[in-house]
Amino acid sequence: MASREHWRTKTGLVLAMAGSAIGLGNFLRFPTQAAQHGGGIFMIPYMISLILIAIPLLWIEWAMGRYGGIRGHGTTPAIFNLIWKNPLSKYLGVFGLFVPFVVCSYYIYIESWTLGYAIFSILGGLPALPSDFNISNEVQKPFKDFFLHYTGFSSSGFLNKPVIWSYLVFVVTCALNYFVLIKGVSKGIERFCKFAMPLLFLMGIFLAVRIFFLQTNYGSAVEGLNFLWEPRWDKLTEPAIWLAAAGQVFFTLSLGFGAIIVYASYLKRNDDITLTSLTSASLNEFAEVVLGASIAIPAAVAFFGLSAAQEIAKTGSFTLAFISLPVVFASLPYSNIISFIWFFLLFLAGITSSIAITQPIIAFLEDELKFSKNKAVTLTFTTLFLVAHLPIFLPFAIDEMDFWAGTFLIVAFGFIQSLIFLWSLTPATVWTEINRGGSIKLPKIFFLIMKYITPAFLGILTFWWIFKELPSYLQADDPRVWITRVVLFILLSIKLYLIFFAYKKKKKILR
Ligand code: TRP
Repeated sequence: MASREHWRTKTGLVLAMAGSAIGLGNFLRFPTQAAQHGGGIFMIPYMISLILIAIPLLWIEWAMGRYGGIRGHGTTPAIFNLIWKNPLSKYLGVFGLFVPFVVCSYYIYIESWTLGYAIFSILGGLPALPSDFNISNEVQKPFKDFFLHYTGFSSSGFLNKPVIWSYLVFVVTCALNYFVLIKGVSKGIERFCKFAMPLLFLMGIFLAVRIFFLQTNYGSAVEGLNFLWEPRWDKLTEPAIWLAAAGQVFFTLSLGFGAIIVYASYLKRNDDITLTSLTSASLNEFAEVVLGASIAIPAAVAFFGLSAAQEIAKTGSFTLAFISLPVVFASLPYSNIISFIWFFLLFLAGITSSIAITQPIIAFLEDELKFSKNKAVTLTFTTLFLVAHLPIFLPFAIDEMDFWAGTFLIVAFGFIQSLIFLWSLTPATVWTEINRGGSIKLPKIFFLIMKYITPAFLGILTFWWIFKELPSYLQADDPRVWITRVVLFILLSIKLYLIFFAYKKKKKILR
């Protein structure tokens, strides 16, 4: 068996895992989700999902990854098959390749906007505020036009201009990802995250502190913080809020993507799982509920007032990040630098995540089809680049891909993972696999939570999606939505074929 790479240092591993988790989700998706679902109301199901679903699933994914890694496999088709000796298992595992691939194809494009905006900020290319501005809808207009111009989308969602700049920056972003990945796990990913993550935290803390003191006639940052942090118990019976909270917890911790599994497969047999996973998850939660909560929403509340800020959050995270926050920053002294710090922070958060999302495909090609690293990385990026033309040129594609892969399938996949790991292996094996080499010993109660509560919770969420949300999603009248769906279907078929091919080839080798 060819020897697999390993993480070189504990710090490097923690920062790489945290880098994967800390992403655009923490700074854009979390604040908008929280504001859309009533601030303090959202935080209660968020915390409950974190404890009952996310942390148990985190240990499951880490343990599955290390289990596969010491046997030479880093991706779910192979690992599921090792654990559950059923022909179906490898085909279920295909979602651990399909989901990250689809998410990556739009994630990298959005990540490239943050780089583009960082460059514009420092060169002074973003719109300026007129000296006699007052806060009405008008003040956002130049910034909105700039955003539409940059992405090429008109407000009706149609591509109406050539997108030369954004296309170029997108190519540069892909190249940067490529250069980190081609160097491999410890020399590429680990080294890059060791440099990028501390810088990201410094910039995040700087922005949070700067915004904390913001105050205008319309509102103050502290009001924004109160809105997010004052717990409220009404509306807790609404399933939509639970779904949104669980979805966010999944997204932010990168659960259900097969990505943690791949990173964990580069652990050694006796490396600690219990504490290291908690450490990286804590860094992620710090970046989410402390930094993520203290930047976008408080800044918007201080500048536009609470109710206007909530309206802005309803129009989506892109509006908040690329339109409203640049307006706020343009009103401050040293606006170039502050807005550069904001977009560069987003860019670092994005790139440390996108290198993780691409890793499952690369690892699959290396482990199962025996590709060399160069060949695996190059092939992955070529196909990724081609598929990314869908979100670049086809309106609605980002939303469509985010719904199928980034929201629905991850919860369903988490459900499958927890079932396979806890119900195919014996309880003793499960418990040793998680605790071996552990710096802390987990209380036995977590075994019961993992075996019964986590899958039950995830199962209910999955079926709730299928019966309640899916029918309305399927009724899309716009034919362009169907183009995206057909392409997604083709991609899924290709992935299934790849698995089939990998196994046929392996049988020949064994014979
Ligand atoms: N957690 C990342 C964020 O908050 C996004 C993400 C989702 C991700 N799935 C992933 C990153 C898989 C790496 C691997 O933005």
